[in-house]
Amino acid sequence: MTTTLPAFTPEVRQRTAALYAKLKNHIPEVEWALTAPIIDEIRRLKTQKNALVLAHNYMTPDIFHGVADIVGDSLALAREAARAKADIIVMCGVHFMAETVKILNPEAKVLIADLEAGCSLADSITPEDVAGLRRRYPGAPVVTYVNTSAAVKAASDICCTSGNALQVVESLESDEVIFIPDRYLARNIARQTKKTIRIWEGACEVHEKFTPQDLDQMRHDYPGVTIMAHPECPPEVVQAADYAGSTAQMIRFVQDKHPSRVALITECSMSDNVAVQFTGIDFIRPCNLCPHMKKITLPKILDTLENESPEVTVDPQFIEPARRAIERMLAVQAG
Ligand code: 13P
Ligand code: SF4
Repeated sequence: MTTTLPAFTPEVRQRTAALYAKLKNHIPEVEWALTAPIIDEIRRLKTQKNALVLAHNYMTPDIFHGVADIVGDSLALAREAARAKADIIVMCGVHFMAETVKILNPEAKVLIADLEAGCSLADSITPEDVAGLRRRYPGAPVVTYVNTSAAVKAASDICCTSGNALQVVESLESDEVIFIPDRYLARNIARQTKKTIRIWEGACEVHEKFTPQDLDQMRHDYPGVTIMAHPECPPEVVQAADYAGSTAQMIRFVQDKHPSRVALITECSMSDNVAVQFTGIDFIRPCNLCPHMKKITLPKILDTLENESPEVTVDPQFIEPARRAIERMLAVQAG
């Protein structure tokens, strides 16, 4: 780790003043004295090293608003990764997201602040499991949610994200589709298509905790609330919500409809980040923390950029087939 953290000098205060004006309702002043110098130093290193910081919508506001060059859902980050021109890309998100960056941009040095930032969905399935499903459902194409390892993507026909899953499934000719690994996303998609969906029983440990009773309670406690749920939630939760979509689609809904009171049924930092942007909206914050996303912190990002480590690599045998599955997804008009 970095031995000495940079100091909160008057120059740093001045350079970060506009950012603090935005974040002051979310970060106390005492904490800002420690946070601002780290943000300032990361920004300096980004320029010096021609580095780009991509951040998922679940990063904390100091990362999301302070150091990210591009923020978004998995689909947007994959698209940006494919066109990025930087020498270094720091992926502030979980490991499968960093692997996707490396697959789409193999020339760049891809860094992640913590190699242990995993995902319960990615951990739920292996390439051998995919081979088993193909034997069980011969001829059915495999649609793989991007929350999977590079090896599993490489064993798939096409990828999808929560932002384009239905369009990807509908783009296939086959009436039977193997959809892996999220059982809830698969069931939510199955309700919207005539195709037969073969399901793998993986789940997101964050979204599966929400229940329809949580939503009933919210409607009781906060009259008029507009409830939006991520499609990794169980179908009963999605059905009880007013809108379901990827993290970016939820943000677009808030932007377009400007509901006065909102509850985002998803990871905690989402509401914090969106609340910074939409100050007039009352955000109810029922949330579950993703322990993997929360492994990525500002001091670790600084350390990673300084030392250009840990680097994310992908076994060369998986790069081409995984890229084919992701690029096939990116060619489907959606998102
Ligand atoms: P999005 O693609 O909707 O941002 O979701 C990624 C994720 O990991 C949700 O848990
Ligand atoms: Fe994986 Fe769920 Fe965390 Fe997203 S929120 S990274 S799906 S464990």
